[in-house]
Amino acid sequence: MLRHARTALILLHLTVGCALGAAAPATLLPDPIYPDLGQPGLDVQHYDIHLTVPQPGTPWLRAQVRIDLQAKLPLNDIRLDYQGPTVLSVQWNGMPVPYHLQASPAKLIIPRALPTGAAATLTIVTAGDTRGLPDPTLPIQLGWQSVPASPEQPGANFAFSEPDGTHTFLPCNDHPSDPATFTTHLTVPQDVQAVASGRRTGETQHPDGTHTLTYTLDTPIPTYALGIHIGTLQEVRRPAALLPTQSVDLSDYFPTSVPLDVRAPYQRTTDILKVLTDWFGPYPFATYGSVVVTPPLPALETASLSTMPVRSSRERVIVHELAHQWFGNAVPLARWSDTWLNEGFATYAELLWAEANAQDTTPLLASWRDRLRGGTRPLTATTQAELFDSTAYARGALTLHALRQQVGDPAFRTFLQTYARTRAAQPTQTADLLSLSRQYLGADAETLLRRWIDRPTLPAIP
Ligand code: ARG
Ligand code: ZN
Repeated sequence: MLRHARTALILLHLTVGCALGAAAPATLLPDPIYPDLGQPGLDVQHYDIHLTVPQPGTPWLRAQVRIDLQAKLPLNDIRLDYQGPTVLSVQWNGMPVPYHLQASPAKLIIPRALPTGAAATLTIVTAGDTRGLPDPTLPIQLGWQSVPASPEQPGANFAFSEPDGTHTFLPCNDHPSDPATFTTHLTVPQDVQAVASGRRTGETQHPDGTHTLTYTLDTPIPTYALGIHIGTLQEVRRPAALLPTQSVDLSDYFPTSVPLDVRAPYQRTTDILKVLTDWFGPYPFATYGSVVVTPPLPALETASLSTMPVRSSRERVIVHELAHQWFGNAVPLARWSDTWLNEGFATYAELLWAEANAQDTTPLLASWRDRLRGGTRPLTATTQAELFDSTAYARGALTLHALRQQVGDPAFRTFLQTYARTRAAQPTQTADLLSLSRQYLGADAETLLRRWIDRPTLPAIP
């Protein structure tokens, strides 16, 4: 009797604990820095996207997007983020439904209610010219990139979306706290290559001189991390990387105009994967590769298929983007203010790689301190301009270094692997990292982390 009562109590306790802990997509929004992105209580499981690009290099595209969604809270309507080409039709569970477009904040609103737990499928067809969204700090446009044909190369298109560019070409729940799996079908002219995040699962030739390539990504990722590239790309297949618990298929993609010295550093991917899996645990996807692009953008960790500008084609950046496959892609942010959980970890991977190559890491550590000379801030960002500043990268990395100095390599390694494993597909914020540090490394480690996270100035490394 007593035993049963105790079991019941424990069960009750577990239920309450879960209800609080698992509330993720329903209650993390609105995001303090991007209050207009995403719909609280909307949980997208899967996006099936079909893009047709008849003239690569131009901003025109046709998109058919099927969204499998569920309500985590009672929803009065569905409000997707969208400011893209003309909406041609919307279907709700296969039936046409009315919809309306709101300009600010930019939403595609479908007046259909869902009770908690209910699921539905939306299918949206759009067509027209895409238009980018200005980046808050860099002179670049986020979203669908169009590289016009030139004497050096035919036209190309690709996605460059972090943080909020995806909804300029696809209707979606455009917030990292709602990661989803993706199937991407790309229809392009026969002589043009098309590649997206995930493994290639289909290719169909059409009588009209086009072909459709299909890619499947089974690991949930944030919308900004969806990689799509269209152009005259040369695929360089590498031998599969044989890692302790998995085999990863590797291919890199280069515009034909790109010279050999740009391509060379990508030969080291298997070595980098070995070092990073040793620290972080299993690599989260079935495939990996980089696509080199010519415009002068930052590098971006698009899932299983990093987007690498020519000028970023250096070993250190390749390591950085590969590390993001764990930190940022597999482990998604719960809110944009915690970009240090992406950038600090990926930057620290640069040091782990240097060490594995028996390089002196003193200059790298010094360069991080230097980058903070002009000032720093507590690690949680408060403005859009802070998301990718030197504090997120350099102070973030130094924070992990300080933690490692205090706890030692074996505990640090276990901690990184536990974080990567337990937070996969779980929207994660600084508080989650802190509670994990308390649980696995003890109160002193948490105290150290809090100093590094909360103080306005930089603490000393132990
Ligand atoms: N996450 C990218 C990196 O690997 C940086 C992206 C910066 N994006 C931007 N819109 N400013 O560091
Ligand atoms: Zn990064």
